[in-house]
Amino acid sequence: MNDGELEGVISSEGLARASSSTSELLNVLPQQSHSVEDGLLKFHFGHTWTSIARPLSVSLNVDASPGCGGLAWPAGQILASYLVQKGPEYVKNRNVLELGSGTGLVGIAVGQFPSAKVWITDQAPLLSIMNRNVSLNNLQGRVAVAELNWGAQIPIDIPQPDIVLAADCVYFEPAFPLLVQTLNDLASPSTEILFCYKKRRHADKRFFGMLKKKFMWKEVMDDPNRKIYNREAITLVQLVKLK
Ligand SMILES: C[S@@+](CC[C@H](N)C(=O)[O-])C[C@H]1O[C@@H](n2cnc3c(N)ncnc32)[C@H](O)[C@@H]1O
Repeated sequence: MNDGELEGVISSEGLARASSSTSELLNVLPQQSHSVEDGLLKFHFGHTWTSIARPLSVSLNVDASPGCGGLAWPAGQILASYLVQKGPEYVKNRNVLELGSGTGLVGIAVGQFPSAKVWITDQAPLLSIMNRNVSLNNLQGRVAVAELNWGAQIPIDIPQPDIVLAADCVYFEPAFPLLVQTLNDLASPSTEILFCYKKRRHADKRFFGMLKKKFMWKEVMDDPNRKIYNREAITLVQLVKLK
């Protein structure tokens, strides 16, 4: 993992800076706000679903010590915000699996929908912060935490997902073929894959060059925030596995 490749990161220490910067996404999405309470980062996602408390809130421990995944990344906030606005019906009775979850923000946001069945996954050093964040949001039993290293065999206790989520997982070139392999292992042509990424020094082009042998993709156009995050070089796409 090469954290030096990353930019636009948000930690609780960096919040003061983030609050005043237009290049950080914490303040950019109109439906999203945040606060820091007792050392925890709290995200509040606005939505129009009456069956869920308004706004939907996620409390997060953030901690840079296990690596870049211990921080909350803009692409994760964008994907979480999109899914919260899509609402509970989208995930109802479907297995949702997140790759490279880091703090677990995206999966924990989705896990608050009743009847959601969510697996958040990452490498071993992140499992502790993911477990802490699941407990913090009282989602034990609805959000499962599992180790899943890209390129390795999918653990047998992870069921076939109907929806795969990934946010800000395109940044370290040696991992690109591993990530493509895992997406290919997990998906069938009917699996919905939402993939939010930030363009970084043309690395994304090399990643999509590998991906196109197995998947096609299209930009998600129904997100009202799309133009806002496109200006931050962030794109949300839906991947479909080729038959
Ligand atoms: C930039 S962070 C994004 C974290 C989170 N999705 C977000 O948006 O805040 C990238 C994540 O990918 C994970 N990752 C990197 N290489 C991986 C690999 N080979 N297998 C599994 N996860 C990996 C990292 O541990 C990290 O949590």
